[in-house]
Amino acid sequence: METAGKEEISVEDEAVDKNVFKDCSKIAFYRYIYRMNFQEWDYWVKVCICVLHICRRQKQQRSRKSIYQALLESVTTGKESTRFQVVNKATKVSLLAEIYGIEGNIFRLKINEETPLKPRYEVPDVLTNKPSTVRLVSGSGDTGSLILADGKGDLKCHITANPFKVDLVSEEEVVMSINSLGQLYFEHLQIPLKQRVTKENEEGASVDTSQENQEDLGLWEEKFGKFVDVKVNGPASVGLDFSLHGFEHLYGIPQHAESHQLKNTGNGDAYRLYNLDVYGYKIHDKMGIYGSVPYLLAHKPGRTLGIFWLNASETLVEVNTEPAAKYTLTQMGPVAAKQKVRSRTDVRWMSESGIIDVFLLTGPMPSDVFKQYSYLTGTQAMPPLFSLGYHQCRWNYENEQDVKAVDAGFDEHNIPYDVMWLDIEHTEGKRYFTWDKKRFPNPKRLQELLRSKKRKLVVISDPHIKVDPDYSVYTKAKGQGFFVKNHEGGDFEGVCWPGLSSYLDFTSPKVREWYSGLFAFSAYQGSTDILHIWNDMNEPSVFRGPELTMQKSAIHHGNWEHRELHNIYGFYQQMATAEGLIQRSKGKERPFVLTRSFFAGSQKYGAVWTGDNTAEWSYLKISIPMLLTLSITGISFCGADVGGFIGNPEAELLVRWYQAGAYQPFFRGHATMNTKRREPWLFGERHTQLIREAVKERYTLLPYWYSLFYRAHVAAEPVVRPLWTEFPNELETFGVEDEYMLGSALLVHPVTEPKATTVDVFLPGSNEVWYGSKTFAYWEGARTVKIPVALDTGSAMGEFYLDDGHSFQYLHQKQFLHRKFSFCSDVLMNSCADEKGHYPSKHVVEKIFILGLKKQPSAVTTHSPDGKDQPVAFTYCAKTSTLSLEKLSLNIGADWEVHIK
Ligand code: GLC
Repeated sequence: METAGKEEISVEDEAVDKNVFKDCSKIAFYRYIYRMNFQEWDYWVKVCICVLHICRRQKQQRSRKSIYQALLESVTTGKESTRFQVVNKATKVSLLAEIYGIEGNIFRLKINEETPLKPRYEVPDVLTNKPSTVRLVSGSGDTGSLILADGKGDLKCHITANPFKVDLVSEEEVVMSINSLGQLYFEHLQIPLKQRVTKENEEGASVDTSQENQEDLGLWEEKFGKFVDVKVNGPASVGLDFSLHGFEHLYGIPQHAESHQLKNTGNGDAYRLYNLDVYGYKIHDKMGIYGSVPYLLAHKPGRTLGIFWLNASETLVEVNTEPAAKYTLTQMGPVAAKQKVRSRTDVRWMSESGIIDVFLLTGPMPSDVFKQYSYLTGTQAMPPLFSLGYHQCRWNYENEQDVKAVDAGFDEHNIPYDVMWLDIEHTEGKRYFTWDKKRFPNPKRLQELLRSKKRKLVVISDPHIKVDPDYSVYTKAKGQGFFVKNHEGGDFEGVCWPGLSSYLDFTSPKVREWYSGLFAFSAYQGSTDILHIWNDMNEPSVFRGPELTMQKSAIHHGNWEHRELHNIYGFYQQMATAEGLIQRSKGKERPFVLTRSFFAGSQKYGAVWTGDNTAEWSYLKISIPMLLTLSITGISFCGADVGGFIGNPEAELLVRWYQAGAYQPFFRGHATMNTKRREPWLFGERHTQLIREAVKERYTLLPYWYSLFYRAHVAAEPVVRPLWTEFPNELETFGVEDEYMLGSALLVHPVTEPKATTVDVFLPGSNEVWYGSKTFAYWEGARTVKIPVALDTGSAMGEFYLDDGHSFQYLHQKQFLHRKFSFCSDVLMNSCADEKGHYPSKHVVEKIFILGLKKQPSAVTTHSPDGKDQPVAFTYCAKTSTLSLEKLSLNIGADWEVHIK
């Protein structure tokens, strides 16, 4: 069993290839919703002869009539909410809708079955405290409608009875419509057919065939590979559509390895929120990975909105943007010619179970939406200062000697760092809260060494507990019934790093309290106050489970099925861990806890990272939008493994990753086992120097980072910010995801391409002035500038201007030549500085002198755009570090490069 962990690595490794994970077509409740659509589609095929496929489907969706009607005569206005019934016109089953006005311009809409067979799951513990409600004043609109206002007047909720629809109106303009596409969807809990048949036979009643159909469709017993998921009360999914008027730019709903701005989801495709352990996840993919925040933001100049869908079961989100269009006379006829059709984005949320509980955050500015969301779910925990420094991790640092050598390496190479990390091998056979006696015979001694240098230690603690009658954590948890149960009532058992394991049921307050106690110094042998915690594999990861996670039929505290709360499991582990670290210091010290899995509100408990990324340039690049998305959904303390967890980065990639990571909130180098060692000094002096500089830049800015975290903590301002949040009226910023603001003062544009010599940096803000942080170069905003970005420091820039020397032709006829020379990464480049100018010139460059070149080149070539390379004769003087190139004949007005090798 001791080696089971390692065997399982290969299981994890192969996961992506082996179709271990579902795509949307394999998710029963989604398939079913689609089938419903297709039935209507058949109708459309009959009436429309030749309309494009996609067009037809969308029309069909638009035309779908709501089957729900609000019974406005049932309205009651209580102290907190306004309630009314919403009835399914076909089945006559009624739902109960509640609308709350919440302080700070937030509306909450809850829809549940009025008389469910048994209670449906409502997510607890996410809302920081009971949000204070504001009394909604109701007034009736036209017949068949009701208007609710929050008393201040600007924001109104306009409820239409038939078909049921809610419009959110601000300053007489509808900003959002709910159920205007008729996609309210609510599957009622049912008694299984077999039980019903018996009962109805006894009563002589007829059997409802729709349930038989559902069973045929696999909605009661969903099969996936060798797994069968039995749904005891049948399909229970819920869904609702939201039309955002005038909005084309949406963001949020992490975690996906995708662009910052949400994409249209197209046919049968959706963003999936389902926490999964996806080793080496694919990028530009909408499948769910480790964490979920069911919250999205929509933005347009003048208004930002948020939709927070509080549901912890498997969730899918469809996004469909219709850009603004101005119809012309010829296209649409005279009436339409007058209309400018506003853009709109339709968002459809669907969850496997639970209820509809949705918060509408009405902004109007991005900063208001951040505050509104934090009012509901809390702000970023204030991190201890050390945790904003650099962290060094590896799976695994082998033993005490190894750790000491790495620790000393940082001092020897003059690279600052604050935190050493120990992965799973530090334990006795992956039994968390223990130490491997051979590798770490004296953990306190090791911590004292780190303490003497003011450094800290982070160790891993996963949620799976090895099934082992000699392991006290296991026996105590088992004895008290603290494990998640299987649906037969025994302890759930699955395979993870230690082999066969049971999983602590962190959804239970008692289990959390007990688990927190395990971090007490007296309980956790070998721990000291410099030891902090890393929670991993808490999706939870179950190697041989469906999609490498827990069966949805597993049972948690309160008799809830795992399906109800899957996405919040990891949230609870981090909550209990953070609480444990606070308690061990008797409430005095701030904890540091990193988690892989998370949910809305996880920011209250510590930091999050983006899991098992790969040592490739594309993963470095995607780390930026992934972190920006986390940041705007409340999770400011986030990072990606520097260097890429899987594989071996080449020196250039590693350096670039350090340079990028130094400007990302959580800054940790990490690598999986069987990768080559990659401590910063192993790639030659030049690269060591570059990494040293990057890490030092981090430390130079540490006071700034710390101040930003304080603002995140007290005022919900994200630490790293997509440009659109700082420049909300500048359309050009809305799609930018290769650069961002660090606070409101620094713009960061990491280099994410190999062999880059320049980057195009967009400088927003027509009234802004920007300075290069190293060169102090000065630019006015609202422009894109090309900035040299050699890996190291040798660079130079210059310009050349030429015209006829006497006339105004340069002004009226644009007869001039404006060239730019840049030297970086050993390439001298002549390029155009102003495309407007044109001036035929026979002038040539004959000689070039390069000063400050430290080493003798082996060759020099000229390179022209037509691909011709020509060797150049050169003389190099080591004494003066000068390179002289002579007998050249390079046209000054043409593009060319000189390469020094
Ligand atoms: C998971 C984590 C990774 C860790 C490994 C072993 O793959 O994502 O960071 O090193 O498990 O604990």
